[in-house]
Amino acid sequence: MRSWRILAVVALLVAAVAVGGWLLGRSARPLASGVARTAQAGDLSVTVRLDDTVVGTRVVDVAVDDASGKPADVGAVRLSFAMADMNMGVSEVVAQPVGAGRFQARGQFFSMAGSWLVQATLVRDGQEPLQVPFRLAIAAPGEASGPLNPLAADAPTILAGQKLYLANCVTCHGPNGRGDGPSAATLNPRPADFTLHMVPGKHTDGQVFLWIKNGFPNSAMQAWDKRLTEQQIWQLVTYLRTFGQATVAQTTPNAQPGAAGGAAQPVAQPDALEPAKREELTQDGAAWLIANQRRAIEDVHARRDAVVRLQPGEG
Ligand code: HEC
Repeated sequence: MRSWRILAVVALLVAAVAVGGWLLGRSARPLASGVARTAQAGDLSVTVRLDDTVVGTRVVDVAVDDASGKPADVGAVRLSFAMADMNMGVSEVVAQPVGAGRFQARGQFFSMAGSWLVQATLVRDGQEPLQVPFRLAIAAPGEASGPLNPLAADAPTILAGQKLYLANCVTCHGPNGRGDGPSAATLNPRPADFTLHMVPGKHTDGQVFLWIKNGFPNSAMQAWDKRLTEQQIWQLVTYLRTFGQATVAQTTPNAQPGAAGGAAQPVAQPDALEPAKREELTQDGAAWLIANQRRAIEDVHARRDAVVRLQPGEG
C-alpha cells in the first residue's frame, strides 16, 4: 500500500516536471504570435521574425540555418531599417547573438505605419558579408498590417486604379479624394478625406486593402469583395496613395521623417553604417522606390486633372 503511494507521488512529480519543462520550452520559443519571413541566400536559409507587426518597441529575431537545416556558423548579424513609402533615411543596429545561428535586436526600429525594408547583413569568417533583404508591413496601433501590396506603384497600375475609382468610388469620395462627391453630402458618417488619410506613415496598404474588401459596417462604405477582384482592389489602394503623396509633396517638399504621422524619430544609430554601405542600401531600397513612385504619381496627377476636367459636374 505504501509503495503504491510512493509510486503515485513519484509519478506526479515526473508529470509536474514534464509539464513545467514543456511550459518553459514554450515560453523560451519566442515570438510565436508575430510574423516570420524566410529568404534563401545561397545555401543559407534566413528567417526574420517580429514579435508583433505594430509600431513601437519590437523584438527582431534572426535565425540562420544551413542547407541541412542546422544553425549556421555566422559571426554577427547587422540589421538595417528603411521605410519604403517615404524617405526617412536608414537606421542600423547590431543584433545580439542569442544561440547558435540565432540573433536578436530590440528597439523602436519602426517609427510609423507602412511598408518597411529590413536588410539582414550576415558576417561570416573569411567570406564577403551576405545581404538579405526583407519587406514587412508595420501597422498603426489598433489596426491590421494586412497583406503586402503585390503591385508596384507604376503608371499602368495607378492608371488602372484611377479608372476603377472614377467608375465606382468618385460619387462618394470625390474627384480629389476629399470625401466631397455628389452623393456624400447626406451620408453619416461622411466618407474619409484621402488627402489626409492616405499620407505615408498612417495606414498600411494592407489595412486599406482590407477596408475596401470588407467595407465599414453601419456606413455607406460597402464590402467590395464581390464586385472587384483582389488585383483590382490593390490597384485602387495604389491609386488612393497618390492623394496622400500629393499632400506630402505640397506640405513638405523634402518629406521629412515624422511629417506625415507625427511619429518619433528612430532610436537606432544610423551612424553605425559606413557611408558607402548606407548609400548602396538607400539606392537599392527606399530611395529607388520613392523616386519611381513620385515620377509615376506626378504623371498620373497630371492625367487625372485632365480626366476630371473632361467630366463636368463632378468637380
Ligand atoms: C456610397 C458611398 C461610397 C462609395 C461608392 C464608396 N465609399 Fe468608401 N467610404 C464611404 C464612407 C461613408 C466611408 C467612411 C466609413 C467610416 O468612416 O465609417 C468610406 C471609407 C472608405 C475608406 C476608409 C478610409 C479611411 O481612412 O478611413 C476607404 C479606403 C474607402 N472608403 C475606399 C473606397 C473605394 C476604393 C471605393 C470604390 C471602390 C469606395 N470607397 C466607394 C462611402 C463610400
